[in-house]
Parts: sequence; structure tokens; C-alpha cells
Amino acid sequence: MIAIASDHAGYALKQTLIEHLTAKGVELEDLGCGGEPVDYPVYAEKLCRAVAAGQYERGILVCGTGIGMSIAANKIPGIRAALCGDCFSAAMSRQHNDANVLCLGGRVVGAELAKMIVDAYLSTGFSNGESHTRRIAMLKGLEK
Ligand code: RB5
Repeated sequence: MIAIASDHAGYALKQTLIEHLTAKGVELEDLGCGGEPVDYPVYAEKLCRAVAAGQYERGILVCGTGIGMSIAANKIPGIRAALCGDCFSAAMSRQHNDANVLCLGGRVVGAELAKMIVDAYLSTGFSNGESHTRRIAMLKGLEK
């Protein structure tokens, strides 16, 4: 199960992605917002706490640039959030960083590119490579 959330600036792209993923049979839950003006840290925290607690396998966060969401997300212990504007980065965020949250900028990437980025992110697994596993453990150490 995937969680998705946005602020008002990411709402339109979030709706496009929900439609896209639902059509592909991806199980997902929309944690808000409903399009009204909101503060992105609230939705980043809501989604990331749930991902970190294991309620969702991964999460997708959308704001205007993706920057605010990614800054907020990476403050939550257990979260490795990747702000991606291309498919290569999205795939590598999974292979090398085991990113459990993808952040997108609704005012930056177009709908078709965003769909391809999400598809690359969701279809790519962690490499399980020794060096990448060690580095991810080092990231965990930075939370202390
Ligand atoms: C909201 O206007 C905008 O600042 C927000 O969506 C995001 O881009 C912040 O990083």
C-alpha cells in the first residue's frame, strides 16, 4: 500500500497521479489535502510518520517545487525522501538510497513526466548492495 499527499500547490498533480496509479491497479491512500490552502509540513509529517511506522510501504509527496516537502520529510526519523525531476534519479533513489518517499514539484514537472517518474520509482527495488546498505546505515546514524 502506497500513501500520497500534497499541499494546495501539488493538488492537481496529485489528482493526476492518483488517477494514473489507480488505473494501473496500485493500491494507494490519499492523506490530503483536498485542494484548500494548507501548510506542506503538516502533510509531510502525516505521511512520513505513517510510512516510518510501517503503515505504508512507500509514500509520494507533492508540493509546488517538491522542496518544502522533501526538507520536511527528511526530518522524520526513518524517512529517506528523494526529490526527483527525472526518471533516472527516481530509479537510482530506489537502487542506491532505498528511498521510501518520493517528492515531486507540481509546478515543475508536467503530468506525463511525473507519471513516468512515479512509475520508475515504484517499479525499482533496492540493490541490496553491501556499500549501499552500509551508507544507509550511516544515514540512520545521522538521526541521533
Ligand atoms: C506553496 O505556495 C509552496 O511554497 C509550496 O507548495 C512548496 O513549493 C514549498 O516548497
